Amino acid sequence: MTPDHLNVALIGATGKVAAPAHLNGLAAIPGAHLYAVCDIDATTIDPLADRLDAKAFTSFEEVLADPAVDAVDLVTPPHLHSGQTIAAARAGKHVYCEKPMAQSLEQVNAMILFHEQFGTTLMVGESYVFHHPIVAARTAIENGDIGEVLHIRETKGPWMMRREEASRLDGLSHEASAPWRVDPALSGGGRFPWIMDHAPHFFATARYLASGAEVTAITAHSQIGTTASEQVSGTGAPTGHAITSVAWSFEGGIDSAWNQVESSQEAVSEVGFVTTVHGTKGTLVVYGEGGGAAPGMRQPPAVVLYRDGHTRVIDRENTTDRVWISNNNYYDSSHQAALQHWVDSILTGNPVRYSGEDGRSELAATLATIMSADEQRTIAPADVPAEWKAYHASER
Ligand SMILES: NC(=O)c1ccc[n+]([C@@H]2O[C@H](COP(=O)([O-])OP(=O)(O)OC[C@H]3O[C@@H](n4cnc5c(N)ncnc54)[C@H](O)[C@@H]3O)[C@@H](O)[C@H]2O)c1
Repeated sequence: MTPDHLNVALIGATGKVAAPAHLNGLAAIPGAHLYAVCDIDATTIDPLADRLDAKAFTSFEEVLADPAVDAVDLVTPPHLHSGQTIAAARAGKHVYCEKPMAQSLEQVNAMILFHEQFGTTLMVGESYVFHHPIVAARTAIENGDIGEVLHIRETKGPWMMRREEASRLDGLSHEASAPWRVDPALSGGGRFPWIMDHAPHFFATARYLASGAEVTAITAHSQIGTTASEQVSGTGAPTGHAITSVAWSFEGGIDSAWNQVESSQEAVSEVGFVTTVHGTKGTLVVYGEGGGAAPGMRQPPAVVLYRDGHTRVIDRENTTDRVWISNNNYYDSSHQAALQHWVDSILTGNPVRYSGEDGRSELAATLATIMSADEQRTIAPADVPAEWKAYHASER
């Protein structure tokens, strides 16, 4: 008989950034039962487990040894993803693995292979392609609303680890609460650690809007030791390196670019996480994660279509998805939609919409971005050697 629910264990459950969104998401999904929570942080795991009426673990190996666990949801830092994903396959557990999928293509190939061999489902947690405004934009493209796609442009606003942001967020930035993000080896990004965490999102978004076309060539521009490049660690110490713009082409000719756009706080709602898709007949503007970010600021509509001299807001009525009210709700709605899809796919036996192969595409593009910035030349993701990592053993 087909089971009607899965016992899920959340690994990295007391983490500060992704874990709360996963806990909310799993709680809202009928087919998921949060059976266990696991974190190496022994001081916080017991109170969390008590509050959620779940089993507490401090050892991932013990989670895998528990026969009641059907599936593990990994919100651990990236240097752990490949080992944990492979161990879970060997133990017969389905996996949801947060992006970035791993640190090398060799690792992702092994992750995919083990899940194929053991007949378990592997989905990579690329929540951007489950973000409903981005899904709505893809639907509009499929409906022919902008004709043939020509250019995709993405920007990201001042939400990074610049000195002013670090001080404004007063220890609550992602880099302060999850310091692996600016660590060369733990992030896997070498001299450009932060881009390792973010590039999978912008490549996945663009590839999804380009209807799955693969990236053929990437040129990344880096700033080293300049004001524009200033990134600080959680403690406020400058790291001094940033990739501030990336340009790339897709097979079939669509060209694409991403830029880090710093601005004053007042301008954030105009220059936050914005994706613009230009086609032969029209233009779509989509606000992504945190779109017009700061709470209390004017909130732009999530998706706008410009065509034939008219402006049309693409909206959703009769929905409980709060992301249509404010892009700040990205964190609960997109993660919930992605996790719902993972659970439904396992229960029905249908393939996942964002697989290990998809995670591999975005990792190859991310590694090619770092290689391009390092070597100051254009790189094809297909030319990134399988064993290549962006950091050196001495950085461990
Ligand atoms: N899809 C998204 O929008 C999104 C957003 C944020 C983070 N992420 C991803 O989620 C992952 C986690 O990021 P974060 O910022 O939440 O990190 P975090 O540092 O806040 O949380 C990670 C947690 O893992 C725990 N941990 C470390 N080693 C462990 C082990 N061996 N077993 C069990 N627990 C262990 C840590 O104690 C910590 O509590 C990363 O891959 C990140 O890129 C994705």
